[in-house]
Amino acid sequence: MKILISAGPTREAIDPVRFITNRSTGKMGYAIAHAALEMQHEVVLVSGPVALTAPAGVKLVNVESAAEMAEAMKKFAVEADVIIMSAAVADYRPCSYSSSKIKKSDGNMVIELERTEDILASLGKSKRADQILVGFAAETDDLLQNAQNKLERKNLDYIAANIVGVPGRGFGAADNAITLIGRDGSLRELSLKSKRSIAGELLEIVLNR
Ligand code: CTP
Repeated sequence: MKILISAGPTREAIDPVRFITNRSTGKMGYAIAHAALEMQHEVVLVSGPVALTAPAGVKLVNVESAAEMAEAMKKFAVEADVIIMSAAVADYRPCSYSSSKIKKSDGNMVIELERTEDILASLGKSKRADQILVGFAAETDDLLQNAQNKLERKNLDYIAANIVGVPGRGFGAADNAITLIGRDGSLRELSLKSKRSIAGELLEIVLNR
C-alpha cells in the first residue's frame, strides 16, 4: 500500500526572524511512518520542522508552512491508498509577511491573523472511494463529541482522538493514548503506551477494516 503521512508542526512566518508555531514534535507521525515501513508499505512522510530523523526508506518531503504542507499533501494524495494527517497544522497565519525585520516600539503590538487552508477537509472533499483518510483530534474537553464532529465535517474514515494538556501523553511525550473512532461508529481504545506501539495498532485497525 502507498501510505501518505503528515507530521510535526507548521511555521507561519511573521518576518525573516519570527514565526508562529505550536508544541508538536512530530513523534506520533514519525512513529506511524516507522510502523508502516516495518509492515513493508511504501511511505511518503510530509514533515514540518522537527528534530527527528526520518526512517531510512521513506520518501521525506520537508515543508515549513501550512500552505507548503497543503501543496505537498495534495500532490502525493493522488497516488496514496491511505492518508494519515497527524501534523499539527497552524489554523492561522499572519495576514501579511514583512520582508524587513519588524522593529519594536514602546506600545503594544497586534498581529492580524487569517485562516490557513484546512488540508484534511480539502483531502476529504477530493477523496476517492478506495482511499482511507485518517485525521487526528487533539482536545482538552469533550474529546469524543469534538472528534466525532470533525470526522463528519471533514469526511474522514477514522479519527484518532487524544486528550492534550495531560502530562505524560500527547504533544512532545514518548507515550500516547488514543480513541480511534471509525466512520461506521466503531470505537477502539488504544491505552497509554509508546507512540511506536500506538502507531502499529492504529495501522493494523485502519488497514484491516
Ligand atoms: N488540520 C489540517 N489543516 C489545518 C488544521 C488542521 O489538515 N489547517 C488537520 C490536522 O492534521 C488534524 C485535524 O485536522 O488531523 C485536526 O482537526 P482541527 O479541526 O483542525 O483541530 P484543531 O486545530 O484542534 O481545531 P479546533 O479549533 O476545531 O479544535
